[in-house]
Amino acid sequence: MWSKASPVPRNEFLKGVTGVNGIFCALTDKIDKELLDAAGESLKVVATISVGYDHIDVAECKKRNIRIGYTPDVLTNATAELTMALLLSTSRRLPEAQHEAKTGGWVAWAPTWMTGPGLAGATVGIVGFGRIGQAVARRVKSFNTAHILYYNRSERPEAIETGAIKTSFEELLSRSDFVICCAALVPDTKEIFNKAAFEKMKKTAVFVNTSRGGTVDQNALIEALQTNTIRAAGLDVTTPEPLPLDSPLFKLKNCVVLPHIGSASIEARNTMSELTANNILAALKGTINMPAELIA
Ligand code: GLV
Ligand code: GLV
Repeated sequence: MWSKASPVPRNEFLKGVTGVNGIFCALTDKIDKELLDAAGESLKVVATISVGYDHIDVAECKKRNIRIGYTPDVLTNATAELTMALLLSTSRRLPEAQHEAKTGGWVAWAPTWMTGPGLAGATVGIVGFGRIGQAVARRVKSFNTAHILYYNRSERPEAIETGAIKTSFEELLSRSDFVICCAALVPDTKEIFNKAAFEKMKKTAVFVNTSRGGTVDQNALIEALQTNTIRAAGLDVTTPEPLPLDSPLFKLKNCVVLPHIGSASIEARNTMSELTANNILAALKGTINMPAELIA
């Protein structure tokens, strides 16, 4: 049991897992060959309190017959809600506006002060159209947007419900007023938002990322924001995490940074905790009182 706020240091983690049957971990805990070796043959299950499992070496677990649990579905609404909050905070400049209000910058009501692009009538592009991407699309639609585009490796028949249209990545970038990344981090999506991608976006585009920092070439994003290649970015995920205080992203007025709180609704986090514990029980003895989510 690790009860401090900071992640368990690697050497403590390696020592602590020796001989255990199950590991309850978070996305900050790297589960690789070295860790699995340190745990030894007693280990039967690794359950992460997250929907992303890019921190887990799935192939290595499969080889050793170690089951993996994760927490899809139960955080979809929370993450989609946070995505909308971050999108609107970024486009309508809420942190900047609050800062002005608190520091004397609010001198009068003025017609063009603190203005930003509206969602109604806009084209919104969603990269990664799984559970969370689709939940974002349903919310975006209720803002009376003109078009919703999505880019996903596979066709998503569920898209019909939101009227979202599948395009190429390039078409999505060039047509969208808002570009939202909801894609899992896999080799295909690693730094898919690079210099060339930001250059294909509209100069007025707002970029939002609530998936993984690794989908973005962060230096290219910083440059795009500094040179107004795009208008603004809202990030719930960065490289690294926590983002160091001297990061240029914190100095940019056109960037909103949140500390990876996508799933942080009270309801979602409670359910994620239970599901993660139940995933361990399900793998160890098959005694569960809610559906387990085991991917391997
Ligand atoms: C959070 O990022 C998660 O993967 O659940
Ligand atoms: C703003 O408060 C307005 O009345 O337009």
